[in-house]
Amino acid sequence: MKPVEIAKGIYSVGVADFNIRDFHGYSTEAGTTYNAFLIVDEKVVLIDTVKKEFADELLANISEIIDPKKIDIVISNHTEMDHSGALPRIMHYIGEDKPLYCSRMGKKNLSAHFSQSWNLHPVKDGEELSLGSRTLMFMETRMLHWPDSMFTYVKEDEILFSSDAFGQHYAGYELYDDVLGDAAMFQAKKYFANILMLYAPQVLKLVEKVSDMGLSFKMICPDHGVFWRTGIGSIIDAYVRWSSHETGKRAVVIYDTMWKSTRKMAEAIADGISETGAAVSVIHIRSSHRSEIMTAVLDSKAVIIGSPTLNNCIFPTVADVLTYMKGLRPKNRIGAAFGSYGWSGEAVKQMSGELSSMGMELLDEGLKIQYVPDSDAIASCREYGRKIGEAVCDRK
Ligand code: FEO
Repeated sequence: MKPVEIAKGIYSVGVADFNIRDFHGYSTEAGTTYNAFLIVDEKVVLIDTVKKEFADELLANISEIIDPKKIDIVISNHTEMDHSGALPRIMHYIGEDKPLYCSRMGKKNLSAHFSQSWNLHPVKDGEELSLGSRTLMFMETRMLHWPDSMFTYVKEDEILFSSDAFGQHYAGYELYDDVLGDAAMFQAKKYFANILMLYAPQVLKLVEKVSDMGLSFKMICPDHGVFWRTGIGSIIDAYVRWSSHETGKRAVVIYDTMWKSTRKMAEAIADGISETGAAVSVIHIRSSHRSEIMTAVLDSKAVIIGSPTLNNCIFPTVADVLTYMKGLRPKNRIGAAFGSYGWSGEAVKQMSGELSSMGMELLDEGLKIQYVPDSDAIASCREYGRKIGEAVCDRK
């Protein structure tokens, strides 16, 4: 992708990774970008780099604007290798002694990732750096989503370079949220659900802090996806809503099945939920990626998990989803478990235990049906769905 001037003297110089479909286990059906930014002032600054394999493309983009050797300062907002992988190539090219600004934890993490003895300048929260006509302010954003994460704010232009926060895995020629349209918010939601949900308390504190500081934004530029310029209020409101674990009157039924008995239960439970007026979606685990499942969980008040019992245990694909979900820490949800079994039927109890350990409100011990559900069993599944749906409609 060619570099673009996004404000006077400020350029997007990052790269698009159109073909990536698996980003360390996250399904990236629309690819992603590794955004980097060049500010040309009395001092020339590069904010963030890209994945290692795109280092030459980044240098070529910078070269269209200025000789990269004229870069005076590099800023690393985040050490994860999709943003730091090209640092060795860039620093070698522009001069290993050029100052590399990062957070205090960034210094530690960069040293742990790279063997080079760079001229690291750790900055404090709120520290400022004059570039000539512009002033940068650094904001530590620990655990959003790594200990080293920080934002860089250009005071005069009111542009926030927000690292992974507000990002979306999307690669395309649409540079701004209003150009991309609804996909920007959808991809931002998926990103939040799979990367940031467990850090919801830190998100809420950060939004409060920024509000107290009275900062205003003309643009928020994350390190992935499009830049927010018209939907800034919408994306901040969405982050507050998602971090507050607010959901609609919606349930998601997530299941796997061996001989379609648990599937029949799943669909009958969903029928019952739907009868109460609650919205419901049904997801077959082996037909969906776990990152899509978590996006549905983000929106859902009730999470209903179905598994057959296999060898006295939860079916492995269902256990995978539960493990992933547990790490992302959804809160303020109703949980329920169900499944078909042959002779032992431990999976329902085990799943209920997992949902309970996530802090979900269990309505009961779950529903299990032996072998193939007959019409009475299907009726009991529908009744179970109605019970869940009513609970969803009752809760805030
Ligand atoms: Fe896009 Fe945490 O790296």
